[in-house]
Amino acid sequence: MASPSPFDLPVPAFSVAVVDEDPKLRTRLAMQLGEAARAAAFGALEAVDQKLPAGSPLVLVVGPSFATPAAMGEVSRVTRARPEVSAVMVVHELSTEILQAAIRAGISDVVALAAEPGQLREAVERATQHLNATAPPAPSAPPAVAEDGGSRGRIVTVFSTKGGAGKSFVATNLAVALARRSSRPVVLLDADLQFGDVAVMLGLVPTHTVIDAVNEIDRLDVSLLQSLLIEHEPSGLRVLAAPIEPAFADSISLAHVRRILDLLASFASHVVIDTPASFNDIVLGILEQTDDIVLMAGMDIPNIKNTKIGLQTLRLLHVPPTKVKLTLNRANSKVKLDIADVERTLQLKADCLIPSDIAVPQSINKGVPIVLDAPRSSVARSLERLAELFPAPAVGERAR
Ligand SMILES: Nc1ncnc2c1ncn2[C@@H]1O[C@H](COP(=O)(O)OP(=O)(O)O)[C@@H](O)[C@H]1O
Ligand SMILES: [Mg+2]
Repeated sequence: MASPSPFDLPVPAFSVAVVDEDPKLRTRLAMQLGEAARAAAFGALEAVDQKLPAGSPLVLVVGPSFATPAAMGEVSRVTRARPEVSAVMVVHELSTEILQAAIRAGISDVVALAAEPGQLREAVERATQHLNATAPPAPSAPPAVAEDGGSRGRIVTVFSTKGGAGKSFVATNLAVALARRSSRPVVLLDADLQFGDVAVMLGLVPTHTVIDAVNEIDRLDVSLLQSLLIEHEPSGLRVLAAPIEPAFADSISLAHVRRILDLLASFASHVVIDTPASFNDIVLGILEQTDDIVLMAGMDIPNIKNTKIGLQTLRLLHVPPTKVKLTLNRANSKVKLDIADVERTLQLKADCLIPSDIAVPQSINKGVPIVLDAPRSSVARSLERLAELFPAPAVGERAR
C-alpha cells in the first residue's frame, strides 16, 4: 500500500534542481536522485530562477553550502515568493539547530549527506506532497478505518531531546499498562534503531527484529508482520524489536517505518513507539504521523533547556500542542528546581509526574516492567495514570 513514487512515472510532474557552490557535490547529489528525477544542477539560486520559469512545480535540493543563516534566507525568499517551489536541504551533519533554522526558512526536509541515497529521494518525494498541498487529496490516502473494519490504532510516541530521560523505561511500562487494559493487540515499536533496548527491558530475546520486516517490505502484510512480533507473555504486549547490530539501522528508511506503522495501526488498539534522543529523519516522520507524544523531561537545567528546544521544534513541525503530554521524570528529586518552575519555563502543565525510585533500575535489571514488578509503588501508579490518558479509539474512528 506504499504510495507510488513520483519517480516511477515516466515523466515527473515537477522539476528537481540541485544547487550547491561545489560542482562535484551537486553532480553527486543529482546522480543520487537517480535517472528518473532528471535533476539539473546549478551553482547558485539565481541560475535556477533564470532557467526554470515561474509557475512550474519545482523541488530545490540545496547542498551543505546553504547551511548558513544568510543562505537559508535566500532559500526562504524563493520558497515564499514561489508557492510552487519546495526545498530540501542536504547537510554534512544533522543538528537540532540546523533543523530549526531550516524549518524557519520554509525548507521542508533536511537530510544528512552521508544518508543512503534513498533518503534524499524520499525527502524530495515528500517535498512534492507539500507542493500539491492545495490539490485534492490523493486517492492513496491512508484509510480512516482499519482493514478489518475496526478502528485504527492510536499511535503514542515517547520522545525526549536527551538520552537517559527515561524514554525506554516509560515506553515499555506504558505499553504493558495499555496491553493489560486493551482487548485488542497493543504493539511496542522500538524506533531507537541503533541502541534500542526495549526487548532487554522486557526480558525478551529478540528472535525477530524490524530488520526482518524491512527485508520483506515488498510483500509485508498484517499476518507477516504479526509473525515478526515477539510476545511479552505476562502482559500480552507484542514487540517489534530494534536491530541487534547498530549498523543494521542504516538500511531502514522512513518509508519502511511508515509502511510498518500503517500496518501495525490497522490491527492494534495502540502502537507505542520508543525513540532515540535525536530528531533524525525517521523520528521527524514518526512525529508527523503520531497521534500523541509523551514528551519526557528531567528536573535539571540542561534537560529543561533541551526540552524547550524540543517543544519549539515540535511547534515548527506544526505538531498541535494538544498532542503533547509532558511527563516529568524523577519529579521528586531533591534538586533546586521545583515542578512549578519547570512548568513556568516550558509554559506547559505537566500531565504526568514520575518520582525517582530505586525500584526503577531494579525492575529494569530484572527485565520485569515496574507496573508488574511493583504495581503498588508510586512510580507504577503514575505510569498507570499516564496510560489512562490514551483510551483506545472508538470503533470506526481515528484517534486523531
Ligand atoms: N524514575 C526513575 N527513577 C529511577 N531511575 C530511573 C527513573 N527513570 C529512569 N531511570 C533510570 O535511568 C536510566 C535511563 O532510562 P532509559 O529509560 O533507558 O532512558 P532513555 O531511553 O531516555 O535513554 C535507566 O537505567 C533507569 O533505571
Ligand atoms: Mg532508550
